[in-house]
Amino acid sequence: MCGIVGILGSKPVATDLVDALRRLEYRGYDSAGVATVENGHLERRRAEGKLRNLESRLLTEPLTGRTGIGHTRWATHGRPTERNAHPHMSAKVSVVHNGIIENFRELKAELTGKGHTFETDTDTEAVVHLVTEEMQGGRGPIDAVKAALGKLKGAFALGIIFAGEDDLMIAARQGSPLAIGHGRGEMYLGSDAIALAPFTDAITYLEEGDWAVMRRSGVEVFDRAGECVKRPLIKSVASSLLVDKGNHRHFMAKEIHEQPDVISHTLSNYIDMANGRVNFPDLGIDLTKISRVTISACGTAYYAGLVGKYWIERYARLPVEIDVASELRYREAPLPEGGLALFVSQSGETADTLATLRYARANGQRIASIVNVRTSTIARESDAVLPTLAGPEIGVASTKAFTCQLAALACLAIALGKARGTIDEALEQELVTALVEVPRLISSMLRDEEQFVELAQMLSKARDVLYLGRGSSYPLALEGALKLKEISYIHAEGYAAGELKHGPIALIDENVPVIVVAPEDDLLEKTVSNVQEVAARGGQIILISNANPDKIGCALAAHITAPKAHALTNPLIYAVPVQLLAYHTAVFMGTDVDQPRNLAKSVTVE
Ligand code: M6R
Repeated sequence: MCGIVGILGSKPVATDLVDALRRLEYRGYDSAGVATVENGHLERRRAEGKLRNLESRLLTEPLTGRTGIGHTRWATHGRPTERNAHPHMSAKVSVVHNGIIENFRELKAELTGKGHTFETDTDTEAVVHLVTEEMQGGRGPIDAVKAALGKLKGAFALGIIFAGEDDLMIAARQGSPLAIGHGRGEMYLGSDAIALAPFTDAITYLEEGDWAVMRRSGVEVFDRAGECVKRPLIKSVASSLLVDKGNHRHFMAKEIHEQPDVISHTLSNYIDMANGRVNFPDLGIDLTKISRVTISACGTAYYAGLVGKYWIERYARLPVEIDVASELRYREAPLPEGGLALFVSQSGETADTLATLRYARANGQRIASIVNVRTSTIARESDAVLPTLAGPEIGVASTKAFTCQLAALACLAIALGKARGTIDEALEQELVTALVEVPRLISSMLRDEEQFVELAQMLSKARDVLYLGRGSSYPLALEGALKLKEISYIHAEGYAAGELKHGPIALIDENVPVIVVAPEDDLLEKTVSNVQEVAARGGQIILISNANPDKIGCALAAHITAPKAHALTNPLIYAVPVQLLAYHTAVFMGTDVDQPRNLAKSVTVE
C-alpha cells in the first residue's frame, strides 16, 4: 500500500510529482521516487526515508521531463532501501505500483529464464520485465501492457511510462484505487483525488479491472475484457487547502482538538436537533426485519464497531456478530438471511474490509458502510453509505475518525431501537440529548490537557502498559492500548477488566502502569474489584473516571477526571483521554507522532 502519481504535463513535472506525493504520504513513507521521460529515455531519482530526502536528491540531480510518475512506498516485498524504492524500470519501461503481485515468484522465474536480470527484492519488478518482454517480442507499449495485465495475479494499481513516448501513460486498476485527473492540455494519475487536488477537480475513477491509456488530449478506458468503456467524470470535493496543521505541532493534536466540531457535524447529519429525534437515512432494508447485524472492520475502526455492538445489542436488542475483517472472510462465517452487514472504515479503502464486504455481498447481505471518504471504494460498493464528517484525517493514528464513527453508530443503534420498538419517544429524546452534549463535554476535557503532559513522563518509562475496561469501555481499553503502542512504541494491551484474573494479572508488578477506563455506571463496582486485584499486586493504577476516587478504595498513581455523561455517550468522551495519553507520551519520547514507524494511514494490502 503505497501512493502513486503520474503527470503528462506541459512543463517539467518533477516538482509537481513530489507535491502530489506529499499528499499521499499517508499511504506509506519509507522511501520515494520519481521517473520522467528525459529527451526520449527514462531517468529516475529515488531516496530512502521521507519525501524530503527525495526532494534534496532532486535539487542536486534535477529531472526536466514533462511526462513522469512518482511513488511513496510502504514496503511489502523487500526492505525499505533506495534499491527497492519505486519507480522500477528497464531501458524501455518504468513502473509505479501499489498492492501486491501475488504470482511474482513464478513470473520472476520465467523471466529470469528468458534472460531478464532482477535488481530488487520487490514484486513490482516482475511487471517491468513482463512488459519489457512483451515489447521485445514486437508489441507496442499499449499491447504489451494489455498482454502483461492478463498474466498478473493479485491486487494492484499501476502507473507506467515508456522510453520514447512523451505523450503516453498507462494506468491499471485491479483491487487498488486509482483516480485520473483531467487538466487543460495535461492529464494526471493518482491513488486518490486528494493527491490531484492542486491540479484539478475533474476526476474519473477507474473501476475494478479497468486500464486506461492516457495522453495529454484525453483518456481511453478499457474494462477487463478489453472493451472501451465510459467512466463518469465527476467534480471532486477534495480540497488542496484542507491539509495543514493550523497552530498545532502535529496533525494528531489538531485532529484530537477538532473532535467537538466534527462530532457535531456528523451528529447533525443523523439527528434532528430541533426535535431531539434521530433522522436516519433509509438503508433500503426493513429495520424491523433484520435478523442480525454483522460488523466488520480493522484496527481502530474495528474498536468503533465493537462499541457499536454493545450499543445495538443494548438499545435495539438485536444480535450483532463482529469480527476483524481479515478473519471474518477467511473463516467463511455463515451469514444469515435478511442480515445487515456493516463496514466501518475511515479511508474506505482498507483491503481486508473491502474483501469482507464483497464476501458479505456474495452471501446475500444488505451492505451499509460508515466511511469518512465518500468517494472511496467501500462507499461505492455499499448499498447504503453512512458518512462520518470528520474531514481529512492525516495523522496515522486515528482519532477524530474514531469518535465520528462512534457518533454514527450511536445514531444507528437508536434508529434500530426505534424501529424495533425497544426505544420509545422519551428514551429517544434522552439519548439524542446525551449525544448533543458530547461536543461540549469533550471541549471541557480538551481545556485540561496539562495533566496528560505530566502523566506522559511516567508512561514513557514503562516497558508494558495495561488498559482495562468493562462493557462499552472494554473497546476503549483496546483502543487506548493501540494508540499508545502505535505512536510511542511502548508495549500495551487492552483487556476486559473481568479477564485480568484469567491470566494477564501475572504481568502486574510495581513497574506496570494499569490504565483503567471506568465511568461511573452500573458496571463500576465490578471494575473496582478488578482494580483492587491490581493494587494488591503493586500495579500503578491510572484511573480515568468521573467517579469519586474514594469509591475505588485503593491508592491511585493518578486520576484523570472525566465529565459525567450518559452511559450511551461515555465511549465518545473516554476516547479523548486515551488519545491524549498516547499523544503526549509519544511527544515526550520524541517519536514521529504523525508518521510512526512501519505504519501507513491507508492499508490497501491484505
Ligand atoms: O481506514 P480504516 O479505518 O479502514 O483503517 C483501519 C485501520 O488500519 C486503522 O484504524 C489503524 O488501525 C489506525 N492506524 C489506528 O490508529
